[in-house]
Amino acid sequence: MSLFNNSQVIGPPLKLSLKTQVTDGNSYRITVAMKLKNGIQQPGFLLALRFLALVFWSFPGARALDNGLAMTPTMGWLHWERFMCNVDCQEEPDSCISEKLFMQMAELMDSDGWKDVGYEYLCIDDCWMAPKRDSKGRLQADPKRFPGGIQGLANYVHSKGLKLGIYADVGNKTCAGFPGSFGYYDIDAKTFADWGVDLLKFDGCHCDSMEHLENGYKHMSLALNRTGRSIVYSCEWPLYMWPFRKPNYTEIRQYCNHWRNFDDVYDSWQSIKNILDWTSSNQKRIVDVAGPGGWNDPDMLVIGNFGLSWDQQVTQMALWAIMAAPLLMSNDLRHISPQAKALLQDKDVIAINQDPLGKQGYRLRKEDNIEVWERPLSDLAWAVAMVNLQEIGGPRFYTISIASLGQGMACIPDCIITQLLPVKRKLGFYQWTSDLKIQINPTGTVLLRLAAN
Ligand code: GLA
Repeated sequence: MSLFNNSQVIGPPLKLSLKTQVTDGNSYRITVAMKLKNGIQQPGFLLALRFLALVFWSFPGARALDNGLAMTPTMGWLHWERFMCNVDCQEEPDSCISEKLFMQMAELMDSDGWKDVGYEYLCIDDCWMAPKRDSKGRLQADPKRFPGGIQGLANYVHSKGLKLGIYADVGNKTCAGFPGSFGYYDIDAKTFADWGVDLLKFDGCHCDSMEHLENGYKHMSLALNRTGRSIVYSCEWPLYMWPFRKPNYTEIRQYCNHWRNFDDVYDSWQSIKNILDWTSSNQKRIVDVAGPGGWNDPDMLVIGNFGLSWDQQVTQMALWAIMAAPLLMSNDLRHISPQAKALLQDKDVIAINQDPLGKQGYRLRKEDNIEVWERPLSDLAWAVAMVNLQEIGGPRFYTISIASLGQGMACIPDCIITQLLPVKRKLGFYQWTSDLKIQINPTGTVLLRLAAN
């Protein structure tokens, strides 16, 4: 199938200009000019363009933390948004932070298909600790709520084929006021490794200076590495640094496997919108630094809870896939609707999130309350998400020219487009010169995959 189906020159010379930044600090610009004419077969040109695209998208990002982990974004479950700091097991035995809660979640992750689609890390957040360290200065779990200790829980979680994540804080106290790791980084890293922990979420509350924050995050990274155990290192370093100075993301990537940039997610549409706004406003700074081994973390998935409509849940899932975000659900796997479960377990959408090329997507345009986001994928495929932010009226049509996607290269000379969300359906064969007309629900998203024909 040829792109050139007119007998006329169909447009002015097309100029494609690619600019990329690579690790050696140089940037390269490649400019290609052409005239589109019927009858002129230009397979050489098209091949060259595909080759350029391949080279362009294959430049690696900045150097990542060298622990061989998180080559694709981490997937799992994290207790904070849904269960917070509920320590009252007398009154609320089913939702307090206790080993029972984590054992139940582990069992469901194994039995209800979560593990099979990639959700692997079961992560404890704040409020697991006893109020004091033990006589040797080691952190200890609250003995009433975790009678088997963290090691016992890790054994159980491992027996289900899953991995265990834990939480600590770089400062003097955790955000909820439990013992902080300041002054104990080496002991704590060793304790976590001895217990068989596989991921550390390291929070940034109660730090008295920026130096303390930076040095603490670096120190813990090196201490975890020295234990010899593979422990994913999840940081909040940039989030706590932003109010004072601009974070150096190239450096952060050398120490952390993922890093929170922005406020805690809440179970609300406003919160999801705020996170997306922050991310698109800062995309020039944060998108290129993401890649295998190190990811921007826009916080947990709240799908399956109370605050988001169906369309808003679709938006969160689609955009977290575009953003190459860690997929850490915070919900109650014991009580989740079949619809939310199917969305979270959608293999096609997870495949976009986990795409091995590991390039984070970005917002391409915003007009008339519609946002278009896109993400380059392996094999020169692209994911495109279109969000309808208008909160009045019904579903809206939006028409986009295929040639404007993927920096002109999402569909050269043609491609197959599949809609993945809100429901999967083949849209069919498109040419580079085609327009695509899509209908999007208010606060919802249509997620597409464009792939070579
Ligand atoms: C901070 C973090 C949250 C959570 C709480 C726990 O607010 O950003 O993700 O870990 O602390 O206290």
